[in-house]
Amino acid sequence: MPQLFPPNSNSFVTWAVWAGGIFAVLMIVALPFYARVSNNAVGVPVAQPIDYPHNLHVVQVGLDCRYCHTTVETSNTASVPPTETCMGCHSQLRVGTPQVQAVVDSWNSGTPIAWNRVNELADYVYFNHSAHVTNGVGCSTCHGRMDEMAQVWKNEPLTMGWCLECHRNPATALRPVSEVFNMAYQPLADPKAQLALGATLVEAYHIDTDKLTQCSTCHR
Ligand code: HEC
Ligand code: HEC
Ligand code: HEC
Ligand code: HEC
Ligand code: HEC
Repeated sequence: MPQLFPPNSNSFVTWAVWAGGIFAVLMIVALPFYARVSNNAVGVPVAQPIDYPHNLHVVQVGLDCRYCHTTVETSNTASVPPTETCMGCHSQLRVGTPQVQAVVDSWNSGTPIAWNRVNELADYVYFNHSAHVTNGVGCSTCHGRMDEMAQVWKNEPLTMGWCLECHRNPATALRPVSEVFNMAYQPLADPKAQLALGATLVEAYHIDTDKLTQCSTCHR
């Protein structure tokens, strides 16, 4: 019987099986890593086209978050301000730095500033700012001390586990609505006192705790 395959065909098959296996392992290892690096890391400042300093505007200038994030109490999104909002001051107040000149240039040319997103959820997750902010969840609980940041970073992982940690027991994190924009506010130091305050607020704000852990609340 004639030889159908050349003598080295066995070693080729062995090689192909190994290469295929190694490729599969690499994909399994690399894909989640890619998914992570394409998302911002917690605590790492995100570079912006203009170095807009939150700390200076919030503390020295004394601006309220709602001056710029105008829809945070009324809609899903907080919204990032257009150049027009900056020009309310910087048309007169030209600090003379290239950074502020870039704001003026954006206004003169009509080209919006291309701010990079810092916090971003996947499209299949539903999130709503107003539901949190009008029910006693403070900005700083999710975003950290924005009044101390020169550059903004993602302060929490924004994973499903992180959302659920609070949704299972919101009393651990709630504060009076009057304190939502207070960056320095801390949950009560005594855990029992915080839980008691939280329970009172869950009641006062009519928070439906059963709804909070249902899949359809965040995946619709
Ligand atoms: C004068 C306008 C202004 C004020 C006041 C202001 N911000 Fe901002 N904020 C911006 C701009 C512009 C950006 C986008 C650039 C950046 O991320 O640095 C931004 C970005 C953010 C982001 C990140 C958005 C993202 O992409 O995830 C958060 C969170 C935020 N602001 C929270 C706050 C909080 C909390 C306050 C009040 C303590 C506040 N801001 C006050 C203008 C403002
Ligand atoms: C209510 C007035 C007001 C608004 C609105 C405002 N700023 Fe300012 N901004 C100031 C003041 C005051 C300073 C500090 C001036 C100084 O240092 O003498 C400043 C400083 C700055 C600086 C320079 C910081 C530095 O030292 O390099 C940048 C950049 C800047 N603002 C960007 C922006 C941007 C972008 C917006 C819109 C998202 C904005 N500002 C909105 C008042 C304002
Ligand atoms: C319960 C947690 C939570 C609270 C409280 C919260 N945020 Fe956010 N914020 C997020 C998440 C999550 C995103 C990303 C949303 C997305 O990608 O759909 C975000 C995004 C943003 C953005 C980017 C633009 C946008 O609307 O997506 C800004 C600006 C912002 N938040 C400001 C604020 C301010 C100001 C407050 C307080 C008044 C606040 N946030 C309170 C979780 C929170
Ligand atoms: C620190 C606590 C806390 C964290 C963290 C938190 N939530 Fe909530 N969330 C609440 C509370 C309290 C309510 C209840 C408000 C109400 O009764 O309408 C709520 C309500 C909601 C609702 C219902 C809104 C509506 O209109 O029905 C959605 C959706 C939601 N959260 C999504 C998320 C997602 C997604 C995350 C994570 C990215 C998250 N939440 C993180 C406390 C939190
Ligand atoms: C409080 C909001 C919230 C609730 C309730 C919730 N999820 Fe999620 N879910 C998220 C967020 C946020 C992510 C995105 C996680 C990420 O990007 O890392 C997510 C991601 C997922 C994913 C993608 C895979 C993964 O783990 O990242 C699946 C599948 C999923 N959720 C299923 C469910 C199911 C099933 C339920 C009900 C038992 C549920 N979720 C309830 C917020 C929620």
